[in-house]
Amino acid sequence: MTALDLNLRRVYGAYPTGVAVVAGLAGGRPVGIAASSFVPVSLDPPLVSVCVAHTSTTWPLLRELPRIGISVLGAHQEDVGRRLGARTGDRFAGVGWRSTPGGGVLVEGASAWYECTVEQRVRSGDHDIVVFRVHDLDAAPDVPPLVFHASAFRRLG
Ligand SMILES: Cc1cc2nc3c(=O)[nH]c(=O)nc-3n(C[C@H](O)[C@H](O)[C@H](O)COP(=O)(O)O)c2cc1C
Repeated sequence: MTALDLNLRRVYGAYPTGVAVVAGLAGGRPVGIAASSFVPVSLDPPLVSVCVAHTSTTWPLLRELPRIGISVLGAHQEDVGRRLGARTGDRFAGVGWRSTPGGGVLVEGASAWYECTVEQRVRSGDHDIVVFRVHDLDAAPDVPPLVFHASAFRRLG
């Protein structure tokens, strides 16, 4: 890793984000990743986006699914963010989840959720910007969000 790589990670990480779980049912079992790159994009049509690394081994499974769930984690779900963002292990072990009728996977207790289909993929360097169309969504305003900043999980306030 070069000095520039290190600076990019450090300086990109200075931008605070939420933590989303992008997940679906593949072969009857939940698969997914944590993503700090989730961004709402458009109101009409309703579109959101996530940047996915070309190295992801889970994304090729997810992108084929008819529906994908995106859950915005709550402040109490740091363990879920850590587990879903880990490179190894059973990511959904001990995680409460439910599937939508279309096969998207949503994390129970999240502060917001979306049910989506893949609308567009834009290759950008070592990531794809994946644009999703939103088919259903809801939010729990009483659940404060989990925050990711400077490589650490944090809470607001
Ligand atoms: C807090 C956090 C945020 C992450 N955000 C992203 C992201 O926005 N895009 C991405 O491709 N990977 C992100 N990752 C890494 C993935 O969650 C996952 O570890 C990676 O895709 C490797 O797993 P895979 O090979 O099963 O896909 C993040 C990890 C953590 C812990």
